[in-house]
Amino acid sequence: MTSYEQDYQQSLKDPEAFWSKAAEGISWSKPWDRVLNSDNPPFYRWFEGAEMNTCYNCLDRHVEEGRGDQNALIYDSPMTGQVVKFTYREFTDIVARFAGALASRGIKKGDRVLIYMPMVPEAAVAMLACARIGAIHSVVFGGFAPKELATRIDDAKPVAIVAASCGLEPGRTIAYKPLIDDAINLSTHKPSSCIVLQRPECAADLSEERDCDWQELVAAAEPAPCVPVAATDPLYILYTSGTTGIPKGVVRDNGGHAVALRWSMKHVYDINPGEVFWAASDVGWVVGHSYIVYAPLLHGCTTILYEGKPVGTPDAGVFWRVIQDHKVKALFTAPTAFRAIRQQDPEGKLIADYDLSQFVTLFLAGERADPDTIIWAQDQLQVPVIDHWWQTETGWAIGANCMGYGMKPVKLGSPTLPVPGYDIRIIDEKDGKTEMARGEIGVIAVKLPLPPSSLPTLWQNDEGFVRSYMADIPGYYKTGDAGYIDEDGYLFIMARTDDIINVAGHRLSTGGMEEVLAGHPDVAESAVMGVQDQLKGQIPVGFVVLNAGVNRPEEEIQKELVALVREKIGPVAAFKIALVVKRLPKTRSGKILRAVMRKIADGEPYNAPATIDDPAILTEITEVLAKAGYPVK
Ligand code: COA
Ligand code: AMP
Repeated sequence: MTSYEQDYQQSLKDPEAFWSKAAEGISWSKPWDRVLNSDNPPFYRWFEGAEMNTCYNCLDRHVEEGRGDQNALIYDSPMTGQVVKFTYREFTDIVARFAGALASRGIKKGDRVLIYMPMVPEAAVAMLACARIGAIHSVVFGGFAPKELATRIDDAKPVAIVAASCGLEPGRTIAYKPLIDDAINLSTHKPSSCIVLQRPECAADLSEERDCDWQELVAAAEPAPCVPVAATDPLYILYTSGTTGIPKGVVRDNGGHAVALRWSMKHVYDINPGEVFWAASDVGWVVGHSYIVYAPLLHGCTTILYEGKPVGTPDAGVFWRVIQDHKVKALFTAPTAFRAIRQQDPEGKLIADYDLSQFVTLFLAGERADPDTIIWAQDQLQVPVIDHWWQTETGWAIGANCMGYGMKPVKLGSPTLPVPGYDIRIIDEKDGKTEMARGEIGVIAVKLPLPPSSLPTLWQNDEGFVRSYMADIPGYYKTGDAGYIDEDGYLFIMARTDDIINVAGHRLSTGGMEEVLAGHPDVAESAVMGVQDQLKGQIPVGFVVLNAGVNRPEEEIQKELVALVREKIGPVAAFKIALVVKRLPKTRSGKILRAVMRKIADGEPYNAPATIDDPAILTEITEVLAKAGYPVK
């Protein structure tokens, strides 16, 4: 195997040679005319002219190559007490039949299908079935409320929704069908089919004409073959938080995605075909798309689909039980899951109850991996703990300790080095072009072209794509993160440069929450920011200024505000604190000083800018936060 340094250099000097070699790992029904079309920057197209099918590469191909009896997917659900294993042969048949069921509802290549499902195997079946017939899926995380669902329905205009009757959270069953019905009532676009998987925990009412039962539809369907699609055709749209309440529809294409994800399994994760890989995430997030479903299957691995939490289902030893029972080689999760486990079992006593001898590496991503958590995990598990950095937009790691080349020394707080394909630069925020010296913080940008799998555009929004990512630093993709590169070339990711926050590894927009608060009749003005939280990394805290003359009890309004965010965005926002203040601190030009307020809440030193309109407001903010229990100084 070549070294990381050789591959990294080659990937930048001659990306076409580098990625066409990686593309040998994928089965193509028609070869490409051009590896990379760079004629129309910042729009780049990988493997133009080629045809393939992602589902074929994930499933049928492995059956043909002799993996038919190997497990493709293991569903392990402490929520229902079930463990179900599907071989590649069985899973291919199930997916082919559901693809036939979709086709029987008239769904065809290019149509969008919105998937709103909990962590059941049928979620992966639905995704792969769409890929099989060339339909474009858009999975929405179960913790989002009907209004968020409606926004996505209106943007993606799906012909069908595929859902389960319910999701299971510890202590409560969430009926999904009423949420979907509400969303369809709210949306302007109306999908013509709603296919519902009935779970025994809660049956859905299927009385609307558009509704149909998953099992009945499948029973009547013929298996559908894989349809060749262009490498540049969209495989899926995944909505992610932007700076406003309107989410961005990240598009993933078929060919480049398959090439990069398959390549990543060996080079980033050091996993071989036949081995067991577990991403403890949710199919509603990008980690779930890439590393529960697509990458492990493209590589002929066994993937684990886990329906449960790191703690409480039933205890903080459940991750070790799953690793032991299914002989997991590598686990990928968010640091918050380990903080939750550590909180419940600080000395890691439960680990001794399990045989983890097959377990080789722990990968963390989704939020900053704090050194405390990394050290704890290393000490307890006695395996390398590898932080890596990536985004919904790329679909795979931008910075990592690429384990397939041999492990580089770990520097705590750093996701290590750029992954081959990513030419990472630190740019001065002030002028948007000067490169910062080593060790100096700036905005993190990637020189174009981005490697395969990275978003070619936003769904039907080329202009938004250019504005959000490409316009500020011409010739570069702006990641939205700030950080620096040290003298050894190691990356350090420090903070977002926009109003996105990371709550328990979930990406959320504070701007979206402010829009909801502003909709309350008693609220004149609001500001939401992410403050530090021991478990979730960050949690949102809202400050509101009430309209003149409002004299209802503050507690009553606070409760309504919390309920409003839950109703409009969903429980995933974890919005629990709304504090009433007389005014918000602002600059003389009217910009709310969110960073200063966040620092006060976090107990960090801050400098009030010279342009602040009234410094006395900061005293009030400090007092309100102190009263609410924040470690203000
Ligand atoms: N459907 C409906 N509701 C959901 C949901 C889903 N799929 N997922 C979460 N929720 C709800 C939760 O029940 C909770 O509701 P509550 O306010 O009534 O308690 C709320 O959304 C917040 O959920 P979460 O942030 O997950 O907090 P939690 O307290 O339930 O669990 C952790 C905390 C740390 C255990 C949990 O966040 C976790 O396992 N994180 C792992 C990280 C991860 O998977 N990240 C994905 C990217 S890699
Ligand atoms: P998402 O698109 O939901 O995957 O969120 C992407 C954002 O999460 C990034 O832009 C970062 O802000 C943050 N993030 C992801 N991984 C890491 C990491 N390893 N270290 C620091 N921040 C991270």
